[in-house]
Amino acid sequence: MNGAWQVIVDPYGTGVRARFYENATSETGGPIEYNFERSETLNVPGDWNTQKERLFFYEGPVWYRRTFSYKPTEHTRTFVFFGAANYFARVYLNGMPLGEHEGGFTPFNFEATNTLVDGNNSLVVEVNNARRADGVPALNSDWWNYGGLTRDVLLVEVPETFVRDYTIQLAKGSSTEVAGWVQLDRSSAAEPVTIEIAEIGLQKTFTPNSNGRVEFRFPAKVNLWSPQNPKLYDVVISSGADTVRDSIGFRSIEVKGTQILLNGKLIFLRGISLHEEAPNRGGRAYSVEDAQTLFGWAKELGCNFVRLTHYPHNENEIRLADKIGLLVWSEIPVYWDIAWKNPGTLANAESQLTEMIARDHNRAAVIFWSLSNETPMDPERTLFLERLAEDARRLDPTRLITSAMNHVSDAGPDKRVLDDPLGESLDVLGLNEYLGWYGGRPEDADRRQWESKYAKPLIVSEFGAEAPYGKHGDASERWTEEYQVNVYNHQLAMIRKIPGFAGVSPWVLMDFHSPRRLLPGVQDYYNRKGLVSNTGQHKQVFYVLQKFYREMKQ
Ligand code: GCU
Repeated sequence: MNGAWQVIVDPYGTGVRARFYENATSETGGPIEYNFERSETLNVPGDWNTQKERLFFYEGPVWYRRTFSYKPTEHTRTFVFFGAANYFARVYLNGMPLGEHEGGFTPFNFEATNTLVDGNNSLVVEVNNARRADGVPALNSDWWNYGGLTRDVLLVEVPETFVRDYTIQLAKGSSTEVAGWVQLDRSSAAEPVTIEIAEIGLQKTFTPNSNGRVEFRFPAKVNLWSPQNPKLYDVVISSGADTVRDSIGFRSIEVKGTQILLNGKLIFLRGISLHEEAPNRGGRAYSVEDAQTLFGWAKELGCNFVRLTHYPHNENEIRLADKIGLLVWSEIPVYWDIAWKNPGTLANAESQLTEMIARDHNRAAVIFWSLSNETPMDPERTLFLERLAEDARRLDPTRLITSAMNHVSDAGPDKRVLDDPLGESLDVLGLNEYLGWYGGRPEDADRRQWESKYAKPLIVSEFGAEAPYGKHGDASERWTEEYQVNVYNHQLAMIRKIPGFAGVSPWVLMDFHSPRRLLPGVQDYYNRKGLVSNTGQHKQVFYVLQKFYREMKQ
């Protein structure tokens, strides 16, 4: 279903009352004031903001229509799958509502088996990226609110009983046993489930219970996945007429005091934070090539870790991280201030968390589920996030729970203590601090002492400074590359001394579009804290961090 779709840009939301979803072509009652046939097109996947200049700032509803011919196959079911649609989507097939979805960065699907017709079909999707005070994220963010069908749209055919979901990983706390489950859809006719890992000569068959579920644990001699050795195995799961193939790595991740242990060994996370923005062309990144360019720069820096901010990035990135050996921090967009007391907002955040975990729970690269970024330190917020931490641990007891925090207590002129109550609920602490940019001078970092209330690993999840590529001047002159280097030199020396320091992911890999960055001739709607420009030009600071990581590796 990828490719050109007819679209109607509908600033006043006329389409619902005018029933655009009916895709009417001939007048049946009053005048029809829309016609998809004669409408402009947008490419899917893709945001609309960078496809049409006049839509760069557009926030509101856009109606997408795609016609296709379809021939039903016996004993199969068909689903319409969306990799993501930002922000709120209503889906109609042949004039019938299939369902709706809120949240711009996680996959969803609807069964279409009984709505599809043999012959011509029309799929109409209303996508609305209007920001909402009760939304996740809410009204304010420091990234561009790209709207549209931003990832793949697929028609998926499966047998009547199929493998709906599964997880296969190293058993918690073991390096010699594999554990997990398989969930069939429509358990009535459940057939035995077979798991095969041919490379290690493994084939196991299990009988599902009455809910079509299999739980298992068995010995398996596997080569463990790590950034140096991103070993993936072909895993085949079959039941009845359905067969699912996946590439899965096996590794363990845990914390021990202030240390993070990968496969039982201490690991230091040499990271970088990045947005899901396409290098060069701009807009929402979605392709394998986009991922290869972004992660290619991370590897060039000497990274073994990427913090994907502030929302779940596309699956091409996650699978590439699995393949090339980059550990991943994945985050839901509970960003800055949201409607903490609103039960609908909590349910929305929980559903985004559930969808993020369900999509990537078989990816060895993903080690962190991050619940939030820079949220205010108030009791409603902490309760909200404690609830999400419980959900995350219930949904996936094998990975580490974290959040990026920026509230610290002042314990004297040069001492700061990370004592945010949220830290209680986390396995690993994320600290965002911008000493030398949003406050103080770069050299103030030389005297700054940090402490944490918690004996837990601490990642400096953000620090940074802005400079457009090629803007040069004195090291004390803000907005110059020299000032950016100056900040990094003092920061890197400072953070090494933080107790429990287990990793870092400076802000940010590449300059990215932001509606909050308005300094003419310098920012021009770009956040310029990148180590590379939006067209990949490497700033001086890129090599400062590269050198630091080379030293950390030794
Ligand atoms: C914040 C925030 C980022 C933002 C960055 C900045 O810490 O987490 O989303 O872009 O700082 O101010 O550049």
